[in-house]
Amino acid sequence: MLLYGLLSSLSLVSALPSLWDTVQKPFSNALANPITHDPSRVNVTLYIMSRCSDSRICESVFEDVLRTKGIEDKINFGIQMVTQGRNESDPTGISCKHNTIECLGNAQHLCLFEHLPLQTFVAVLACENFESSFPGDIGSVAYTRHCAEASKVDWWQSGVGQCIQGKKAKKDDGKKATKKGILGKEAKELLQSNAEITWSRNITRACTIEIGSTLRTGGKRTCVVDDHIWTGCDDGHSAQDFVRVIEEEYKALQK
Ligand SMILES: *[C@@H]1O[C@H](CO)[C@@H](O)[C@H](O)[C@H]1NC(C)=O
Ligand SMILES: *[C@@H]1O[C@H](CO)[C@@H](O)[C@H](O)[C@H]1NC(C)=O
Ligand SMILES: *[C@@H]1O[C@H](CO)[C@@H](O)[C@H](O)[C@H]1NC(C)=O
Repeated sequence: MLLYGLLSSLSLVSALPSLWDTVQKPFSNALANPITHDPSRVNVTLYIMSRCSDSRICESVFEDVLRTKGIEDKINFGIQMVTQGRNESDPTGISCKHNTIECLGNAQHLCLFEHLPLQTFVAVLACENFESSFPGDIGSVAYTRHCAEASKVDWWQSGVGQCIQGKKAKKDDGKKATKKGILGKEAKELLQSNAEITWSRNITRACTIEIGSTLRTGGKRTCVVDDHIWTGCDDGHSAQDFVRVIEEEYKALQK
């Protein structure tokens, strides 16, 4: 696996120009989460895997951070999928640590992030992670749809349904696509371009939390949850700690 990941990151070098073409295309829904960065905001990125219990821990802390009043407007928030490498034999085009079902879950997370307002995305993610049998059904379309609808998301109107199940799937309310387990074109593209960015940054551990910094050397503060243990979190790892750090960094950026 390690060798495979290394080979993928090497082959990435030649793929870079086309990668950037893909990445810099403006996304369809300006309402949701544009990748254009506001330089007056703090970069906050979660590197995650949809069926990973360490990711569940930091997603749960970040639910509280993102719901804290005033925080959403002070950050450029992004999610990055941690995956193993390209894999043309996999229907998603990618290999994931917890198999194809995790790649599907990752792609679904990206569609939700892309098409929903941030607070709605947070609510849907919380629903997916809530199940006590975690990782349970994460990666199944029916489960994602159930969680989206529990947060009052209109599956087709929002664009999430087409992203995950394909443009034509709306016609029969996704029945055929669900049966075939097809991933929509947009979902596949989002997954692949997102995964390439993570590879290019050499980030292999999920969950890694990265907060852009102008106050610390190295330009970022990094904190990792690995095997349920928080490591490298010099500034603390409670929601309040992250909020405090974001406020500090935001203040520094306004000068
Ligand atoms: C590539 O995907 C196929 C199908 O999902 C899987 O059987 C195989 O193990 C994957 N290869 C790697 C290197 O992960
Ligand atoms: C990632 O690792 C590769 C190979 O070791 C190296 O060439 C590259 O500079 C690294 N990139 C970053 C962003 O650290
Ligand atoms: C935030 O991220 C953007 C895009 O990656 C980068 O250009 C910018 O320098 C970052 N800002 C800070 C303060 O780290």
